[in-house]
Amino acid sequence: MAHIKVRKPWEIKDVKPVEEKVYQKRRKVIKQLGLMTGGLLAGRLFTSCEKEPSIIAPTPPTTPIPSTPLADKTFTFEGMDRLYPATLNPKYELDRALSAEIDVTRYNNFYEFIPAANLEKEIRYDAYKYVADFDNRDWKIQVTGLAKKTGFFNLGDLIEEIGLEERTYRHRCVERWSMAVPWTGFPLAKLLQFFEPDSKATHIRTESKSNAATMIGVREMDWFPWAYFEGLRMDEAMNELAFVATGLYGKPLAKQNGAPVRFVLPWKYGYKSPKSIVKIEFLDSEPETFWHQIAPDEYSFLSNVDPEVPHPAWSQALETKIINGDVVKTLKYNGYGEYVADLYK
Ligand code: MTE
Repeated sequence: MAHIKVRKPWEIKDVKPVEEKVYQKRRKVIKQLGLMTGGLLAGRLFTSCEKEPSIIAPTPPTTPIPSTPLADKTFTFEGMDRLYPATLNPKYELDRALSAEIDVTRYNNFYEFIPAANLEKEIRYDAYKYVADFDNRDWKIQVTGLAKKTGFFNLGDLIEEIGLEERTYRHRCVERWSMAVPWTGFPLAKLLQFFEPDSKATHIRTESKSNAATMIGVREMDWFPWAYFEGLRMDEAMNELAFVATGLYGKPLAKQNGAPVRFVLPWKYGYKSPKSIVKIEFLDSEPETFWHQIAPDEYSFLSNVDPEVPHPAWSQALETKIINGDVVKTLKYNGYGEYVADLYK
């Protein structure tokens, strides 16, 4: 069972508090985390949760950028082309128009691809500019822990084995923007069942790719506890809504959306859906998670979308639709109560 020792960010480096250099470093860490958890994460949407927020639409790209072909060094496997676009599963039809592809692929949250200087300036959403070097051509998922089949598995083989479908889901970030996205992929339950989990497995933990050479955020922001790690209860992971996405808009995932494989949990805030997953562990207890380790009071393990539970720094009652700026009421479980409410009785 994996257990991560939770260290304060300034304990991550071998520091002697009396030294000036160290003092500066620590100040920088505290400043970054303060910005992150108090101001920056809220960003320009920041408001007190005492009163109803006035939500400002996030800034769209200034010039329209045409949909681009997939970048180099992108995951592929023999026969992949014939799998896209996959057939739409009509069961999850939405009550709203899909977001534009250009917005979904240009307005992203992916800290591994944020330069440190940009984070300080609150420029956090243009990961697509920094992903070119990220080489995900040959992708394996390592499986460990309480399951019969463990080891390294080729993503291409898993996709061929399980098959693909398309689903349209609402997508709600803790920062109060929302989108409607057509994902291609397969149910997480099918993936987990493939590994034959032990009945003692109560949780899963995932780890995302972390490579300082090709990920500018990992290289420059060494105060974060990389690699990005997340977790789910087993019953949540087996819920029919829990999805493994390998594609978007009928094509394989763009790197900035978490290529070549990510989770999509539409009833939870977006940070519960890890991108570019390289490892899945079957555990018998609740694992620590990336944002919870950084700010335990702000990012709980469950993190289900709930308009009545404010983030400590801002209300969650409303959300802004990308990119037309419409402000709408947030729905409990992001509108997916009929599928998931029973999990939380
Ligand atoms: N996964 C990794 N590895 N790193 C991240 O920074 N950001 C999360 C989640 N998965 C993140 C991640 C957050 S906060 C959100 S809202 C969604 O990815 C955003 O997904 P999108 O960019 O495809 O909209």
